[in-house]
Amino acid sequence: MNNFEYYNPTKVIFGKDTYDQIPSKIKESTAGKRVMITYGGGSIKKNGVYDAVMSALKDYEVVEFSGIEANPEYDTLMKAVEQIKENPVDFVLAIGGGSVIDGTKFIVSAAKYDGNPWDVLTQKKGCKFEYALPFGTVLTLPATGSEMNSGAVISNSRLKEKRTMGGPQGFPKFSFLDPTVVKTLPKKQIANGIVDAYMHTLEQYMTYPSNNLLQERIAEGILATLIEIGPKVLEDPADYKAASNLMWCATMALNGTLRAGVAYDWTTHMIGHELTALHGIDHARTLAIIAPNLYKVKFENKKEKLIQYGQRIFGLEGSCGEEAIHRTKTFFESLGIKTNLSDYTDDYKSTPKIIRERFEERGWEAMGERNDLTPIEAEKIVEMSF
Ligand code: NZQ
Ligand code: ZN
Repeated sequence: MNNFEYYNPTKVIFGKDTYDQIPSKIKESTAGKRVMITYGGGSIKKNGVYDAVMSALKDYEVVEFSGIEANPEYDTLMKAVEQIKENPVDFVLAIGGGSVIDGTKFIVSAAKYDGNPWDVLTQKKGCKFEYALPFGTVLTLPATGSEMNSGAVISNSRLKEKRTMGGPQGFPKFSFLDPTVVKTLPKKQIANGIVDAYMHTLEQYMTYPSNNLLQERIAEGILATLIEIGPKVLEDPADYKAASNLMWCATMALNGTLRAGVAYDWTTHMIGHELTALHGIDHARTLAIIAPNLYKVKFENKKEKLIQYGQRIFGLEGSCGEEAIHRTKTFFESLGIKTNLSDYTDDYKSTPKIIRERFEERGWEAMGERNDLTPIEAEKIVEMSF
């Protein structure tokens, strides 16, 4: 087992009828009364979450920042940063999915940063977010795990870029996870959530045997649970038992637990972010396009784990690595997720080369769990995904 450090300070409040506890949780961070709520395009106004949260915040002075897009936009978020710099707030409460939560992580960090926040996102030397306003979340879409981790992904469509950020200041103080929100989600978003959580698990599993037997079994538990309950949630999003299992799987898949003591390979996400930046494809769908081909190209590296996965998750026998890849693709497709780049755009011919060149420019020469996945291989993986 590899050495590891494990830290997660986010308090999770899981279950229905809990939003009345929001004020007491805010009080744990600040005695201040000025709260900014951040949200997206308005789904929270249609499904009652806005009203429920506002009623809980009745003793607070609430300012609103809405319009955070799916794949949150740098320019939009900077408007909230300016708003806070002009009129400071004591706490920020994100109400939404990964995009609103990620956007809020950026807002609370950039509001406490003196330089140009874009330099942090492009990892300019010496540029780093170190402080943030305290913030919490009310999750409305189980998918990214952002509600219990410190990472965020920010888009800049002017530059066709999508960049990641992180750091300890990015952990929410608390997150409210109420599975009843799932019933108002469009099926497309539910399918996205299942695939994103599944892929977060695979990114921290599909490497080489780690000797961290518990971690591998936890990952397999999440994968098997998602296969079991995913179709049930899609069929009946009001099924509380299934929805709560989806929500907890998605949180557990990316809250730091799975990465403890194991090797990981985030290359599917790295390539996937480029597909979103270049073509606007939903995050989870980019992963479904890339992962099967990445596993084919790096088959020798991942063979032992592919076989373990095939046997334990799909009940296959013998040298079942290739069949395990095929079953993974079939699972995604069974959820209504298409797995070819050409299913989403006609403008894909130059995409592999652009991605290779971007990776080369950034010095991403040695990716994957063995530091041997090259930009040329990334180009090949994207080509195979047409
Ligand atoms: O904007 P509103 O009106 O709220 O609508 C949203 C949005 O259009 C809607 N929605 C959310 N909850 C709903 C709902 N509609 C009806 N009922 C509800 N209860 O769903 C749409 C998509 O929301 P979004 O937040 O974009 O989806 P998701 O949670 O999948 O987040 C995707 C973003 O997270 C990043 C992705 O790259 C992408 O930018 N990720 C963040 C990660 C992290 N911080 O750890 C890790 C992930 O790998 C991922 O990269
Ligand atoms: Zn993801």
